[in-house]
Amino acid sequence: MAGERQALKMMAAGAPLPAILEVVVRNIEAQAGAMQCSILLLDEAGTHLLHGAAPSLPDAYNHAIHGMTIGPDAGSCGTAACRNETVIVADIATDPLWRDFKDLALAHELRACWPKPICGADGRVLGTFAVYDRQPRRPSPIEVELVERAASQARIAIERKRAEAELEKTHKQLLDASRQAGMAEVATGVLHNVGNVPNSVNVSSTLVADGVRKSRLPNLFKAVALLREHDADMGAFLTTDPKGRQLPVYFSQLAAHLAGEQAAALKELEHLQKNIEHIKDIVAMQQTYAKTSGMSEIVQITDLVEDSLNINATALARHGITVVREFAELPPVVVEKHKVLQILVNLIGNAKHACDKPGSTDKRITLRVAGEAGVVKISVSDNGVGIPAQNLVRIFSHGFTTKKEGHGFGLHSGANAAKEMGGSLTVQSRGAGHGATFTLELPLAQCSTR
Ligand SMILES: Nc1ncnc2c1ncn2[C@@H]1O[C@H](COP(=O)(O)OP(=O)(O)OP(=O)(O)O)[C@@H](O)[C@H]1O
Ligand SMILES: [Mg+2]
Repeated sequence: MAGERQALKMMAAGAPLPAILEVVVRNIEAQAGAMQCSILLLDEAGTHLLHGAAPSLPDAYNHAIHGMTIGPDAGSCGTAACRNETVIVADIATDPLWRDFKDLALAHELRACWPKPICGADGRVLGTFAVYDRQPRRPSPIEVELVERAASQARIAIERKRAEAELEKTHKQLLDASRQAGMAEVATGVLHNVGNVPNSVNVSSTLVADGVRKSRLPNLFKAVALLREHDADMGAFLTTDPKGRQLPVYFSQLAAHLAGEQAAALKELEHLQKNIEHIKDIVAMQQTYAKTSGMSEIVQITDLVEDSLNINATALARHGITVVREFAELPPVVVEKHKVLQILVNLIGNAKHACDKPGSTDKRITLRVAGEAGVVKISVSDNGVGIPAQNLVRIFSHGFTTKKEGHGFGLHSGANAAKEMGGSLTVQSRGAGHGATFTLELPLAQCSTR
């Protein structure tokens, strides 16, 4: 019983499976005298038996058995796993099931072998628990019961470990999905930003076209034609004819007007050009981030911060949010650009959302970049709704969101990405109504360039 308790304690403490199985085996051996026991595990394909625990059997024997193929007549264990039933071989020397393996067993003085399949909750075979004896014989009823108990303990340990592994795998998949969702956020930001530019390009080009259509240029041609008619008496026409006398003033007014038309057209064209540059820049930026995903690069942190702001630029402007920059001079650093961008885009997006409280006129986001004692600190502060103390403790938990359309992925995956880069993401807020500050810290020492 003490052995069983020990195995359970080890499971609870997260001990490795081989160590737990060894305790299960030793526990049974201690209760059953001279018997030697083994646990073999069925591989994922369900075709081969792998070493689990057999501390009293000779190493050479364990080695030879490890990886054996199961089958309807593959020794005792291979047969038990294949048929999913207890197999009792009273004499290895004569039993046909051992035809291919008996030399190996006899060389190690093993004469009897009684395995029981270890079955999972769904009835599938997980492995085998076997008892070997040096004498040819069948098990006693007490020994059968012991094997029963051992198989059930082994089953608990194996199933628990597999569930843990499955959980870890799912968790990892979820994290990857969150991270992809983070990058999706960047992509959405880019599209949103670029998506609005064509509208403004459209407005500019319509204005230029309208201006050209309504231009007073044709009036100039009319006035010139009038002058031509009076080529012969130009002097008299300009001084005595009522129409001719108005012409100099008309010309100067027309010149001023045309200059105005030209300036307006130029301004719109400049605007157009800027917008097109903006589209180009944002698309190019998105491409460099997509290309360098997973790679570290030398960057100026402030450039990354500017890129994150650019991605949110349209929304920040639309919500009338003032952006304050407090950037210290720092050497370039080596970081995984897309990870930092993903974190910052979410922080800025969250800050923008927090500032959007009804009736607020002073909406402000402050971005600080500072370096000290081997770390670079990038913080995003807002004067928005703030965070109540009870939310501060769970704000980085996966799925925590207070937004109707939120996922609660942003901060969780951001904190994980920061950790992966050897840094951290932390929050400070004095409570509801007091704004919030998120700080991303990244190690400088190991990443600063020479
Ligand atoms: N600057 C902030 N001020 C106040 N509350 C904030 C701030 N940033 C985050 N929060 C709170 O933390 C929650 C979680 O943020 P997180 O970025 O993880 O997810 P989300 O923004 O809700 O959704 P998404 O996964 O789409 O980003 C938000 O719903 C909000 O309640
Ligand atoms: Mg968010």
